[in-house]
Amino acid sequence: MTELIPLTIERTKDAALIHAAAMADGLGGEAWGAASLRSLLNTPGTVGWMVEDAGIVLARAMAGEAEILTIGVHPAYRRQGIAKALLAACFAVLPAMGAERLTLEVAIDNLPAQTLYRAEGFKRVGRRPNYYRRGGQRIDALVMARWL
Ligand SMILES: CC(C)(COP(=O)(O)OP(=O)(O)OC[C@H]1O[C@@H](n2cnc3c(N)ncnc32)[C@H](O)[C@@H]1OP(=O)(O)O)[C@@H](O)C(=O)NCCC(=O)NCCS
Repeated sequence: MTELIPLTIERTKDAALIHAAAMADGLGGEAWGAASLRSLLNTPGTVGWMVEDAGIVLARAMAGEAEILTIGVHPAYRRQGIAKALLAACFAVLPAMGAERLTLEVAIDNLPAQTLYRAEGFKRVGRRPNYYRRGGQRIDALVMARWL
């Protein structure tokens, strides 16, 4: 069973290791260190969960909307429903924080993540040109959203 643990300041070191492994292929964006995760968690409206050794998600609720800041699963634990479980935690908790809609950005060539998001009810609502930088390249982002 996938056990979700609230992501707290004390767990940011472990979470950073998972995030680094999850982002190593470059598709999902840059890896964030423990200090960045700590400062995000200290920002009002930010919540997160992790699955030990395997995955993390961070989201922020603000003014009736919420955003997935990052989600990543260690390559050794993929296709076991961990990202789906991390998103389910967001869907369960963000409405109680006043959010009615959840949005996210995903690289135009990140097909695994786009497939996940579509399966979880997100629809494409926009496109941000040159949003990500990968090596010397600029990559567009799709903006996706779903009602909570
Ligand atoms: C995208 C990511 C978070 C998915 O994590 P995961 O735990 O493997 O996903 P799940 O097992 O919960 O997958 C749920 C569904 O999403 C879709 N999916 C996930 N990975 C997929 C892949 N590689 N190819 C196609 N569909 C995929 C499938 O519909 C899957 O259901 P199924 O396994 O029953 O077919 C993971 O691949 C990852 O960390 N990637 C790198 C970081 C990243 O891209 N983050 C998102 C940034 S926007």
